[in-house]
Amino acid sequence: MKRHTPSWLANAFFYEVYPQSFLDTNGDGIGDLPGVIAKLDYIRSLGCDAIWLNPCFESPFGDAGYDISDFYKVASRYGTNADLKRLFKEAHKRGMRVCLDLVAGHTSTEHPWFKSSAKATKNEFTNRYVWTDGVWKGAGVPAISGFSERDGNYVTNFFHFQPALNYGFAKPDPKKPWQLPVDHPDCLATREEMKKIMRYWLDAGADGFRVDMASSLVKGDTDFKETMKLWAEMRDMYEAEYPDAVLIAEWSDPICAIQAGFHIDFLIHFNDPAYTSLFRSEASRDLFGFFADIPPSFFDRKGKGDIRVFLDYYMKHYRKTRGAGHISIPSGNHDIMRLAEGRTMDELKVAFTFLMTMPGVPYLYSGDEIGMRYVRGLVSKECGYNRTGSRTPMQWTSGKNAGFSTGKAKDLYLPIDPAKDHPTVEAQEKDSDSLLNHVRQLGALRRKHPALGGDGDFEPLHAEKNRYPFIYRRKLGAETIIVAVNPSAKPVSLDIPFKSLRSLLTELLAKGVTMKHTADGVKFEMQGISHGIFKK
Ligand code: NOJ
Ligand code: CA
Repeated sequence: MKRHTPSWLANAFFYEVYPQSFLDTNGDGIGDLPGVIAKLDYIRSLGCDAIWLNPCFESPFGDAGYDISDFYKVASRYGTNADLKRLFKEAHKRGMRVCLDLVAGHTSTEHPWFKSSAKATKNEFTNRYVWTDGVWKGAGVPAISGFSERDGNYVTNFFHFQPALNYGFAKPDPKKPWQLPVDHPDCLATREEMKKIMRYWLDAGADGFRVDMASSLVKGDTDFKETMKLWAEMRDMYEAEYPDAVLIAEWSDPICAIQAGFHIDFLIHFNDPAYTSLFRSEASRDLFGFFADIPPSFFDRKGKGDIRVFLDYYMKHYRKTRGAGHISIPSGNHDIMRLAEGRTMDELKVAFTFLMTMPGVPYLYSGDEIGMRYVRGLVSKECGYNRTGSRTPMQWTSGKNAGFSTGKAKDLYLPIDPAKDHPTVEAQEKDSDSLLNHVRQLGALRRKHPALGGDGDFEPLHAEKNRYPFIYRRKLGAETIIVAVNPSAKPVSLDIPFKSLRSLLTELLAKGVTMKHTADGVKFEMQGISHGIFKK
């Protein structure tokens, strides 16, 4: 069946809002939905036309809201359901879209489904979660024993308070009758509940969902076949009922995720080996440390990185998913090290030039546009552990609490980056050469030139093992754009012997790059840490 891709996606540019750290409007120290509404024009000014909002539902906040206790109710610390609907409306007025986070694989142990499921007596929710049939029998996967009077262990998806919802097992072990098949009526009921939740928010005005740990639903699914079938069924629902809405995967294996039915999959450059191992995808292994320095990052002034580590993986997935869905390389997210770690503003500009000119859908993690830093030495908040340093409040102004909140510093969700020279939106707005304005320029360029968008062709022109720079061509219809990035501090000059490039003339955006025509192509002269975008 030919699937429909919402046309707005080809030119979309997403902004990830971590609501608790974005803007606090009532002085309680926690960011809230009215804060997101107040900053819609700011988000739009970056060129972003879509938002991914991290979980904002009722939760004991064991894992920052990835442990939901009521999927139908906005957490009071963020506001009300009416506030969320107002956010949809205000965003739509500005031509923007809002996608929510669907934590499809687990709930909080505080969810009423789980409380019923934990009872010894059989009830409608007994099989809503994956439980073994006796506390003395191991589940073979992480599970919690001795939780309640129910004689069994529940399987967890992440932390101990995130019990796995039951979508069944791909190949149930006949010796373990507690492993239900995917088409067991109780497992199908779980699917239907997820559809109901999606319909509820899509009907209320949401434009789609980013799905948390999308590959984790069906247990024992080593080749992901059953998980993919499950998402294909969800996509059918979108095709039939919400053709303009999107499904975005946290899967990090675009070939699988897009074939399964997702419109977008993230290539997540996790940078903690242990955290990475939680994600079974090839990407998590191959992209490990793409931006972090393990192994040496390509985007580093030391110039020791290898673009092929990324590109070989990327090209394989790009070729197989082209036309069917989009790959997204986020600038960062709430789980990984800040992009600014170890980079100067000029280096960040080079990284953003790359991120904003690749095919697919760019994602900007709130704060990365001003180069917000990873804050060290914080006590873990809501099971953030080493992720906590990437979750500090947005730095808006030079005023109290960096303009994030009028509350007392001790009440803030997390402390403001204590560095005296921490970047702020206010300062960077005034500086035409700031990272913020560079990101704005890139956002505007992407919008103006469809060749740079999600549907434009992509062809590497210079991408050699352990060599700099990285040069590539984007093309759509009559429009051709060449992007050159040299993250290394070493200057480099390079001939590209392509006659077709000889008519390349206009510089759209460049720093430290000149391009001269030669007898058989063009010559790029690139200073250390430079970037350039040229148009035919
Ligand atoms: C991935 C989310 O991005 C992360 O923050 C969360 O802790 C886990 N999934 C568990 O839901
Ligand atoms: Ca608040």
